[in-house]
Amino acid sequence: MNINSVVSKMTLKEKAAQLTQIQLHKDNYEAVCELVKKEAIGSVIVAANLTAGNTDRTVITMAQINHIQKIAMQNHGVPILFGHDVIHGHRICWPIPLALSAAFNPELVKESYTYIAEEAKNDGINWSFAPMLDVSRDPRWGRIIEGPGEDPYLGEKMAEAVVKGFQGDGDSINIAACAKHYIGYGASEGGRDYHKAEISDYSLRNFYLRAFRSAVRSGAATVMNSFNEISGQPTASSKYLLTDVLRGELGFEGFVISDWAAISQLVRQGVVENEKEAACKSINAGLDMDMTDNCYFNYLEELINENRVAVETVDLSVKRILSIKEKMNLFDEPYFEEKPYSKEKHRVSAREAARESIVLLKNENNILPLDKNSTVCVMGDMSLDKRAVLGSWSLDFDIDETVTIYDGIKSKCKSCLYFDCLTPKDATMDEMSQTDVIIVVLGESDKITGEANSISGIELNEHQKFIIKSAKRTGKKVIGVLAFGRPRALYDVIDDLDAVLYVWHGGSQIGNATADIIFGDFSPCGRLPVTMPRVTGQIPIYYNCPPSCRDEDGYYDKSLWKPNYWDVDSSPLYPFGYGLSYTKFTYSDIKADVTKLTLQEIEKGKGFIISVRVKNMGAVASKEVVQLYIRDCVSFMTRPIKELKGFDKIYLLPDEEKTVNFHIGFEELAYYGQSGQLCVEKGDFKIFIGENCLVKRSITISVI
Ligand code: GLC
Repeated sequence: MNINSVVSKMTLKEKAAQLTQIQLHKDNYEAVCELVKKEAIGSVIVAANLTAGNTDRTVITMAQINHIQKIAMQNHGVPILFGHDVIHGHRICWPIPLALSAAFNPELVKESYTYIAEEAKNDGINWSFAPMLDVSRDPRWGRIIEGPGEDPYLGEKMAEAVVKGFQGDGDSINIAACAKHYIGYGASEGGRDYHKAEISDYSLRNFYLRAFRSAVRSGAATVMNSFNEISGQPTASSKYLLTDVLRGELGFEGFVISDWAAISQLVRQGVVENEKEAACKSINAGLDMDMTDNCYFNYLEELINENRVAVETVDLSVKRILSIKEKMNLFDEPYFEEKPYSKEKHRVSAREAARESIVLLKNENNILPLDKNSTVCVMGDMSLDKRAVLGSWSLDFDIDETVTIYDGIKSKCKSCLYFDCLTPKDATMDEMSQTDVIIVVLGESDKITGEANSISGIELNEHQKFIIKSAKRTGKKVIGVLAFGRPRALYDVIDDLDAVLYVWHGGSQIGNATADIIFGDFSPCGRLPVTMPRVTGQIPIYYNCPPSCRDEDGYYDKSLWKPNYWDVDSSPLYPFGYGLSYTKFTYSDIKADVTKLTLQEIEKGKGFIISVRVKNMGAVASKEVVQLYIRDCVSFMTRPIKELKGFDKIYLLPDEEKTVNFHIGFEELAYYGQSGQLCVEKGDFKIFIGENCLVKRSITISVI
């Protein structure tokens, strides 16, 4: 396929059409068929309306999609990309991405997305608008549930896992991935959606850019811009971000698609007068494809004829898009075909992912796991829920696949009483008092998480607090099973709960996974990908903050003249990387193969090998996330008090011991410093290895 010759034969109108993505749903199928016959449309997004995959949409069948593709091939010879928001499943639902990040298991995530790709492709989708890589420190923001949490390194690993899960490992592309939202969307002020993000270039590079750099290095076919502006410039019209940084620095060679109507929204952001000017600014900034507002389709030809846009600029965008279509082999095999897959294998994978993502936050006197001969009482607003537990971006899922938390628990214990707290009856209270333990299952609707679903406070609501207090009043032990998408502030309820399992919006298999852990068939091994504040007022609060002039260790010093509050303990309720298991691990013998390397050696690829012995001291086999953090002791610009630069999830039998090794070289020690480029500075680095970001045990290595 000679792409240059294909482009050279295209008219300006055909080129503008190729840079256009239109919307397809049941009510406009015929119109789309007519339009595709006339115009060389580049892509179709299968979606109902503004929040696309997040609102009820009637299924467009694969046969209909193939029919549209046939019209395109017969009339223009250029295949169409069919895009959709396949964020954490398609028919079967895996846990939300924030929960998958809590698994700290990139291999498991990659496998999950190879299965998700099977489901999507069997439904006529060959382009997914995922992974969402917006690092975020604000749980008020509904979209924190779609991303990797607060840490850039974890974001890098999730980016690679999802891109390779969707696209495959080689050069050819199975389903095109889309690294989004480029860039800084997770810093939206006040956790409001679509809003201003005040980010310094230092933070942009060291916190928000890294996951996108990893996605590009993993071969991401596409990138999507973000709705926010940074330092006065909306990303949709920022040549600096879309061309100089994304292409010039990261070497991105795929194509950039706008977020939904982001080009025409430049008018509302006040940086252009009208949609024609918006088209001019965006195409010249390096935004290749226009999602659903037809600015390119309507104005590019005119802008070229007015010499306001060079035809070479448009040709370059068209070539980028055709190159991806060629890598996907769409010119030779443009049509979808049924490829049967094992639903059972997908269920097993979704259950494994849900189990590994669940975080045990509290386990007073080791009340968990419960004996299967227990008589338990289940109560709370999420006990019987089949929908909300699937989380946001989940309207394609087969809701009958959901195993509710009550059903999961009921299937594993001797006797399980469900107490409907909405209509409490005295008799039931007596029955409750006959049970051994009470399991309170609470959560939030999927409708207040995800896009355009931010909340101003993350405390539990009064009814939820009433349920916990009611359970407590029985004098029984109370286990909290919390099915929220985002972190919630548990400060005023945590003391009433003897144990707390954070099961997130854990997907179709949430019930089985939760019961596997409650009854000890699986030892919990999830770790927090995001800090859990005590109260909303602490936001933003995150582990990788810089040392302050009064406290070089973050938020834990409670004495006077420190960066803390008078009205609440300033430290997190639970920190990044934290999570309990049913056993205890000890760490010993941290050492480096060498303690000094020259800067030249590091820059030439040499690194330190850091090793640690980990032992399972308990009676239960379990997985442990061995975490490595660095601290650059003295640097030209401030560096975080800790930075995650390695993790390894290991499985140890009781009494088993293992040596874990980490390679620490340029990639791990470098930061975007004074020059704005990645660099390693000479000096000492502390290396911490342990079970979460509060770890104290460390050794020192030096770059000389
Ligand atoms: C939405 C979201 C984006 C999604 C796109 C298409 O507005 O911001 O994440 O992929 O539109 O549905």
